[in-house]
Amino acid sequence: MGVSSSQGRRGVAPSQAEVRSPGVMWHDVECGPYRADLALWRELADAETRRQPGAILDVGAGTGRVALDLLRADHRVTAVDTDRELLLALGERAAGMALETVCADARTFDAGRGDFALCIAAMQTVQLLGGSSERVAFLRRARAHLRPGGLLACAIVTDLEQFDCAAGDAGPEEDVGRFAGDLYVSRAIRVRARIASILIVRERRVVRQGHREAQLPAERDVVELARVSRSQLEREGREAGLRSVEARTVGPTDEHLGSVVVMLRA
Ligand SMILES: C[S@@+](CC[C@H](N)C(=O)[O-])C[C@H]1O[C@@H](n2cnc3c(N)ncnc32)[C@H](O)[C@@H]1O
Repeated sequence: MGVSSSQGRRGVAPSQAEVRSPGVMWHDVECGPYRADLALWRELADAETRRQPGAILDVGAGTGRVALDLLRADHRVTAVDTDRELLLALGERAAGMALETVCADARTFDAGRGDFALCIAAMQTVQLLGGSSERVAFLRRARAHLRPGGLLACAIVTDLEQFDCAAGDAGPEEDVGRFAGDLYVSRAIRVRARIASILIVRERRVVRQGHREAQLPAERDVVELARVSRSQLEREGREAGLRSVEARTVGPTDEHLGSVVVMLRA
């Protein structure tokens, strides 16, 4: 679930011989093109493993946008996600590299070890877990998996501009991917801020090869991000036995909003 900010039709490259389910395809289309945070995850992984060698835990890994980048840089990665299909796609893409996958919930997972150097929750994954008690449950699980002094880094968005295409707002451009000749088109059509959460509504269309556009009816996908500030997440980290260190930021790009990366040490 990319959080887009403005113009520019974004696209994912045509795939090779791989089989992709619609869930994998939508994940790739909506999350795949985002690259602005990768340098930070690499920097953190390099620094933490230099301090002491260890593996990286990627929570809410999806199809591995972050995990694959770290694997290519010779890091060992354990990817946790509730979505088995996404993890299967990641497993195929990471063939021959040092990946483990764990299909489990971030709030209750057990990867069987407590010596990870770094735990990453990229792209607002921590805001998908529910409210404060659910986040604290995740933070406790992350802490249990980190070696003493290990680092947990969570990217959050705190401000999203509201819009509603049905009310005439322009909204961001589409994310587009082509697979097996079909075009997958996803567009955020509404962002609405509530007291405790932000709703992001996307319209998804598949345009089949050789047919006219809009051949298949559009579907709606709704994501609810819990609102959480940096200071609140740091407080929750303390509750889970983690101490906060200086937060980092990922700047906005022409196509995506920036994020704050809350940093907590075991
Ligand atoms: C916004 S995507 C981020 C994917 C990937 N980390 C990236 O940055 O491209 C969030 C991911 O979190 C996963 N997820 C959502 N709730 C989860 C939970 N309770 N436990 C583990 N994973 C979860 C989703 O299946 C999805 O793959």
